[in-house]
Amino acid sequence: MLVTGNEILQDAHKKGYGVGAFNVNNMEIVQAIIEAAEETNSPVILQASQGGLKYAGIEYVAELGKLAARNAKVPVAVHLDHGTDFDQVMLCIRHGFSSVMIDGSRFELEENIGITKKVVEVAHAVGVSVEAELGKIGGTEDHITVDEKDATFTDPKEAKIFVDETNVDSLAIAVGTAHGVYKGAPELDFDRIKTIKEILNIPLVLHGSSGVPDESIEKAVSLGINKINIDTDLRMAFANAIKKFLKEDPDNIDPRKILGPAKAAMKEVIKDKMKLFGSAGRA
Ligand code: G3H
Ligand code: ZN
Repeated sequence: MLVTGNEILQDAHKKGYGVGAFNVNNMEIVQAIIEAAEETNSPVILQASQGGLKYAGIEYVAELGKLAARNAKVPVAVHLDHGTDFDQVMLCIRHGFSSVMIDGSRFELEENIGITKKVVEVAHAVGVSVEAELGKIGGTEDHITVDEKDATFTDPKEAKIFVDETNVDSLAIAVGTAHGVYKGAPELDFDRIKTIKEILNIPLVLHGSSGVPDESIEKAVSLGINKINIDTDLRMAFANAIKKFLKEDPDNIDPRKILGPAKAAMKEVIKDKMKLFGSAGRA
């Protein structure tokens, strides 16, 4: 069933577990996520990044996501990932997204508050949940790159001001993760997660969660992370399965045969994540 981000994340926040938000670009990825969620009885968030929207087009992404969500036996939210501006968020709401992110983290505090507040007012008026970001998460996601030197951790005092002024539903915080493939294991600032959770008491979001060691994810969830964004790990499972298949059967030209193992590999990765995050059995 299609639900809002809030319906999923408020339960996770109250009960102390994490929910995976997986990036979608095509039908096979959507199907892999929904099948994994149904097999583990887990709520789940399908999210479209800027690159995903550009690749598939907003109509395809929205309709695929909504169809999958409506037919699913578990709660599914369709979410805009790293929304760039007010107009894009409005377009996604018009296309039926049940949750949106407005990412004003590139701006100074006041400007980030301004744009987030404007989005929250409109989104809440039509029952759509809003995620915002404070602090700068390093790495590259699609075309958005933040140099390591420019990455800044979220300041708890600023976070309090930000949430009070914007009334946002969930907050993405910068605590040591980065988008894309890690060179070494990331070190998370667990004390910062704990402090921010105590001060805000709302669902917190961890971006750049692919490649983060399982123990770190478990600890982050125990301290208050409720939404866990995964893209790179799915890309890896997808690409590795296709490479393996074509190495073993180089003359095969059937897209269904080639994409089948990729979908199956992603599904296994997603199921493991759902168990790790604690969302399995919560639907
Ligand atoms: O918004 C999406 C993510 O933060 C995904 O990051 O590719 O490092 O898993 P990742
Ligand atoms: Zn992200």
